[in-house]
Amino acid sequence: MAKLLCGVALLPLLICILVAAPCVINATINCGEVTILLTPCIPFGIFGGTVPPDCCKGIKGLNAAQNASVADRRTACSCIQEGAARIPGINYDRINTLGDLCGSPCPYKVYPSTNCSEVS
Ligand SMILES: *[C@@H]1O[C@H](CO)[C@@H](O)[C@H](O)[C@H]1NC(C)=O
Ligand SMILES: *[C@@H]1O[C@H](CO)[C@@H](O)[C@H](O)[C@H]1NC(C)=O
Ligand SMILES: *[C@@H]1O[C@H](CO)[C@@H](O)[C@H](O)[C@H]1NC(C)=O
Repeated sequence: MAKLLCGVALLPLLICILVAAPCVINATINCGEVTILLTPCIPFGIFGGTVPPDCCKGIKGLNAAQNASVADRRTACSCIQEGAARIPGINYDRINTLGDLCGSPCPYKVYPSTNCSEVS
């Protein structure tokens, strides 16, 4: 049990190291965090169906984190865009409904053509 909890707690840190993201500096969001939060949403983004509860938790966490500043929203937008581009079969219309489905609307929509530097 203790071992399991420890492993879970260390996972975000491990991913930060792996992606060489600037962790904890300035409490800004980074792609490692965004990836962890949104990974449970990937099956829904491809196949649809029911939204997994962990996905909604991730969406809410993301919205809380990117609420801090415009810079955070722009960063998160780019992370989502880059991440989604690597997932074959991802349905952008579907992932853009997730905020509303989870009761925590995302302040922007992400498409391959979205210019994340214009997110406000
Ligand atoms: C935090 O961010 C501000 C503005 O983006 C920057 O000037 C400052 O150096 C940063 N602080 C750290 C510890 O990175
Ligand atoms: C985001 O910030 C606004 C205003 O500061 C607040 O009303 C809202 O509840 C926050 N949303 C989240 C998801 O934290
Ligand atoms: C995105 O928007 C920024 C700010 O308006 C602009 O400088 C940049 O050229 C745009 N990038 C693309 C690819 O359109």
